[in-house]
Amino acid sequence: MQFFIDSADIGDIKKALALGLCDGVTTNPSLVAKTGRKFTEVLKEIVALVPGPVSAEVTATDYEGMMREAHDLAKVADNVVIKVPLIVEGLRAVRDLASEGVRTNVTLCFSPVQALLAAKAGATYVSPFVGRLDDISEDGMALIAQILEIYRNYDFATKVLVASVRHPIHVLEAARLGADVATIPYGVIAQLAQHPLTDIGLKKFLADWEKVPKEK
Ligand code: E4P
Repeated sequence: MQFFIDSADIGDIKKALALGLCDGVTTNPSLVAKTGRKFTEVLKEIVALVPGPVSAEVTATDYEGMMREAHDLAKVADNVVIKVPLIVEGLRAVRDLASEGVRTNVTLCFSPVQALLAAKAGATYVSPFVGRLDDISEDGMALIAQILEIYRNYDFATKVLVASVRHPIHVLEAARLGADVATIPYGVIAQLAQHPLTDIGLKKFLADWEKVPKEK
């Protein structure tokens, strides 16, 4: 499973890269707003750092506007993937961008039939938001299982990118189900490495090491 970092924060992206845990990046308007910087400026910095795919989202909601923004964003770098919302106009844009060879990430997916439409439109990635489904007492990971089943039934090339990841269990379940990618905030990446028994064991080893006679 590939690890993307779900962030527009350059510091977090650099930390994930240093760990070898940044196969790509996903951004969205809310993440960009948190930086307080201009989108193109941030995007240029990210694509210069990360060799993998970097998702940049269009904000228009009509076909012509989405296509215009997509073409501008695609010019920024070869590794830019155009993030398009899962609405009817968006599916039309994805279909035409795919025919132009522009990679897309269809975002805000909350149902398996939406994911089926994204695949039929020729999306490179589909982003089902597991955390936001859990937030309203639905089962986010059940959606991932259904999408993977459908895509495997018909050999769709669209990759399942598990999004809105909130905790390590989401990552564990995504990996067990065989999702292609999980896009993860840096805080959750750091949590994946943690275990209290690791900390207790390390503390004990270091305390015992103090008892070992030191070399001159
Ligand atoms: C996906 O690409 C989105 O950027 C992201 O995963 C949304 O996560 P959130 O629900 O935590 O905002």
